[in-house]
Amino acid sequence: MMRFVLLVFFCITCVTNANGGRTPIIVPDTMAERVKACTICHGAEDKVGRDAYYPRIAGKPQGYLFNQLRNFRDGRRYYQPMVVLLENMSDEYLLEIAHYFSSLQLPYPAPEKFHISPKETRLAEHLIYSGNPEKDIPACSACHGDTLMGTEPAIPGLLGLSRAYITAQLGGWRNGGIIRGQPSDCMSEIAKQLTDGEANAIAKWLANQTVSGKPSPSNMLLPELAQRCRQNILENGGAK
Ligand code: HEC
Ligand code: HEC
Repeated sequence: MMRFVLLVFFCITCVTNANGGRTPIIVPDTMAERVKACTICHGAEDKVGRDAYYPRIAGKPQGYLFNQLRNFRDGRRYYQPMVVLLENMSDEYLLEIAHYFSSLQLPYPAPEKFHISPKETRLAEHLIYSGNPEKDIPACSACHGDTLMGTEPAIPGLLGLSRAYITAQLGGWRNGGIIRGQPSDCMSEIAKQLTDGEANAIAKWLANQTVSGKPSPSNMLLPELAQRCRQNILENGGAK
């Protein structure tokens, strides 16, 4: 009996569909649906390969993602396919998107495998964990966190990114900030102090690391380092 009723019901729906064609396609209105245009490039499959240049954004601090979304929308950072998507979005909506990706947990891609000489390894590890006081380069880890997974509210993690992407970002800052045109930002000052060899060794070393577990940005940032990056953290980082 039940089966019969269902069948009749099913057929009525078939007929209405065939006739009216007006039955709406119901797509759940979730953030995951709304950001599908983004996850084409920033999705779970952001593995090393053809699209290695697309940076990982899942799990990065919310304030950092919010700042970057505003940078792209307002022309301080340039990547045309994203500008088109972001141009009419309000700050409130960008903050929601930042919140969504910041709390999203995706597995990390396998590390890229490059040949890196022992000399390059030593050079990279020294700069990353000790810096170079003579050139006023603090340890990268002092700002990006001991585990290099970022620092709240606005400093991104450095692992899980491709060598091509890291090289391009450092290169953009070193060549005068074409990529991110913020005035006096701390990363452009630091990147300008690096030699080509140092920047290369660092990009290779970072892309070679295996990342496991959850992203867990740190909360510890010395006041003088926060002050040095105030352009990025205090003024723009109002995402909190
Ligand atoms: C066609 C591919 C593509 C699409 C679609 C796309 N992005 Fe991007 N996204 C990129 C690339 C490439 C970069 C790096 C650009 C650069 O060189 O600075 C980037 C950078 C970013 C960054 C900065 C990451 C970082 O670590 O600094 C954020 C945040 C971001 N995208 C969010 C989004 C959001 C949200 C959407 C959807 C509204 C989106 N993207 C759509 C390719 C894309
Ligand atoms: C004084 C603090 C500080 C130090 C030290 C520092 N960084 Fe940064 N870094 C930042 C901030 C802040 C940002 C975000 C910049 C922005 O808002 O555009 C950043 C962003 C980056 C990015 C972009 C990541 C992405 O997802 O796009 C890379 C790559 C990077 N830093 C590499 C390094 C390396 C390598 C070192 C060491 C040589 C280093 N940083 C040292 C503060 C620092």
